[in-house]
Amino acid sequence: MVKICCIGAGYVGGPTMAVIALKCPKIEVTVVDISVPRITAWNSDQLPIYEPGLDEVVKQCRGKNLFFSTDVEKHVSEADIIFVSVNTPTKTQGLGAGKAADLTYWESAARMIANVSKSDKIVVEKSTVPVKTAEAIEKILTHNSKEIKYQILSNPEFLAEGTAIQDLFNPDRVLIGGRETPDGQKAIQALKDVYAHWVPEDRIITTNLWSAELSKLAANAFLAQRISSVNAMSALCEATGADVTQVCHAVGKDSRIGSRFLNASVGFGGSCFQKDILNLIYICECNGLTEVANYWKQVIKVNDYQKNRFVNRIVSSMFNTVSGKKIAVLGFAFKKDTGDTRETPAIDVCNGLLGDKARLSIYDPQVTEDQIRRDLSMNKFDWDHPIHLQPASPSAVKRVNVVWDAYQATKDAHGVCILTEWDEYKTLDYQRIYDNMQKPAFIFDGRNILDGAKLREIGFIVYSIGKPL
Ligand code: NAD
Ligand code: UGA
Repeated sequence: MVKICCIGAGYVGGPTMAVIALKCPKIEVTVVDISVPRITAWNSDQLPIYEPGLDEVVKQCRGKNLFFSTDVEKHVSEADIIFVSVNTPTKTQGLGAGKAADLTYWESAARMIANVSKSDKIVVEKSTVPVKTAEAIEKILTHNSKEIKYQILSNPEFLAEGTAIQDLFNPDRVLIGGRETPDGQKAIQALKDVYAHWVPEDRIITTNLWSAELSKLAANAFLAQRISSVNAMSALCEATGADVTQVCHAVGKDSRIGSRFLNASVGFGGSCFQKDILNLIYICECNGLTEVANYWKQVIKVNDYQKNRFVNRIVSSMFNTVSGKKIAVLGFAFKKDTGDTRETPAIDVCNGLLGDKARLSIYDPQVTEDQIRRDLSMNKFDWDHPIHLQPASPSAVKRVNVVWDAYQATKDAHGVCILTEWDEYKTLDYQRIYDNMQKPAFIFDGRNILDGAKLREIGFIVYSIGKPL
């Protein structure tokens, strides 16, 4: 029986390994992590992450061929294939701070693999890493090897949160990069055999190591660039009377462009887009490619501009001040169908409003009060470095109220902001909300999910992204 061990039981390691276990009943899969609470949660009825369809997959295989454990060394030493899916956040200190990927977690995983291994291993980069990381990992492993042979593969993950299970069941492609030697090709084939249990062969792409590593950064950069392009266009739409939804519909009909990922928004969030583009920028700079680095920097600049623009629009519409006014914030997660708040645009928008002394009443169906308070009091990049956490400023905390109901959040509010596109916000009783708000009642739809015309009929003053007022 082939044994797989995955180091890192996070948003990628957990769902990916659960799907491998489900699709490959003859493979024993163990997911290990240094975080005891995380592993305890994976072994309980309350999984540590919210992801549609995940509970069912885990329930079907846990205890049969899927295991979660904190006994990292034991399972690593017994495995044939080791996936490394630890976090690779942006460095906060030292060389490359604010841009380069922090590979501390990766390096410590690699050193541990070298220490405990007693048989040959295939080590798979599942985390998103800078191009050429495999070379560094190879050095760590082989210089500590004790006669053991390692093959490093790059197998980046392309799942999106909220649709992870669907994406894993039916991926557009699986990418495997490896050495072009006979042993490298053998390792690629071994990993291909795992995915071939459910992924059609023509969707499994094999490349050299560096192409696979760089393709992941490139894919995220292209996706984020699309959103910044649309968001930049949304500002021009507002200035000219064009409607960004109509423009994107027309543009997306061109089969060379395509219709997906063209939704204007308050800005992209999530743990990866910004981090991976910063990493790409750093790699370009290290290679002397200043113009290329500047090109990608603009994607992040436009994203920051979009978040600022949204806050400024709220404040300027509400007679140039929100001081003491109650603003209901609907949605805090970085997108719907996840409880993840890493780099969510809601953090910047809420902090912007708090900076103008607003009172906030926040409701998100999947984000806890603790999480929201922690997020609002963190410095940029702190979310993946919990040790640097600073306490929330006491005056800001007093002006944030977290509730579990949209009607309570909006009661007596002067304005409502939609920051996450949760489906349940589309079907709220907006007449009831209007009746219970201060007048004039404002709605700022940061996700363009509401029917502006209907809301105006009720009496709201409505601002949607990239649409005529
Ligand atoms: P995460 O923070 O949710 O999970 C990482 C886990 O690794 C944590 O539970 C942490 O405790 C554990 N860990 C760290 N060092 C360890 C060690 N030495 N030994 C054992 N466990 C250790 O991160 P994530 O969102 O799953 O992302 C992991 C990687 O996958 C990142 O490189 C990310 O860029 C990439 N990625 C993420 C997504 C996504 O949707 N979140 C999608 C594609 C790729
Ligand atoms: C993204 C990629 O889509 C995945 O392929 C990749 O594996 C992953 O990053 C990663 O490497 O972590 P994810 O961040 O989970 O996945 O979610 P997306 O659906 O890409 O959304 C990212 C952000 O962009 C969200 O804030 C979302 O609301 C925003 N977005 C997305 C828009 O504003 N407009 C759109 O049209 C699409």
